[in-house]
Amino acid sequence: MKRLVTCVVLVACSSPVPSTSTDGPALFAAYCAQCHGPTGQPSAQMIARLNVKDLTSPALRPKLTPAFVEAQIRNGSQNGLMPPFATQIHEAQITAIAAWVASPRFVAPK
Ligand code: HEC
Repeated sequence: MKRLVTCVVLVACSSPVPSTSTDGPALFAAYCAQCHGPTGQPSAQMIARLNVKDLTSPALRPKLTPAFVEAQIRNGSQNGLMPPFATQIHEAQITAIAAWVASPRFVAPK
């Protein structure tokens, strides 16, 4: 059942962005939000299951430079819990997502 739910979520999340899009927020919603949450704050369930990191955490923000986030997206996490995206999305899209996550607007009140 859990697996079915995950599949449905993945399918629902990964379709709407055109492969040419470099819209950082839209790409984040499509490729990252399923684990990190729509605002970068993961759900308690995701933290419990994968130890997903809160991208809005004040402790983590100073580390989240565009270059750091790009490398993380490209290669995934060393422990393999976050998959690499280098073969799934274009370089320009990796750059766009990283710029969005690293920007102060990412944590600005919405
Ligand atoms: C399958 C779930 C999953 C998806 C999808 C995912 N992540 Fe992650 N992410 C994780 C997990 C789990 C970690 C923590 C890995 C670890 O323990 O080192 C993580 C860690 C990170 C970190 C590093 C935080 C740190 O403490 O160093 C960044 C940055 C990040 N993710 C950004 C992204 C972005 C941007 C995307 C979308 C392209 C994305 N993630 C997609 C699960 C995911």
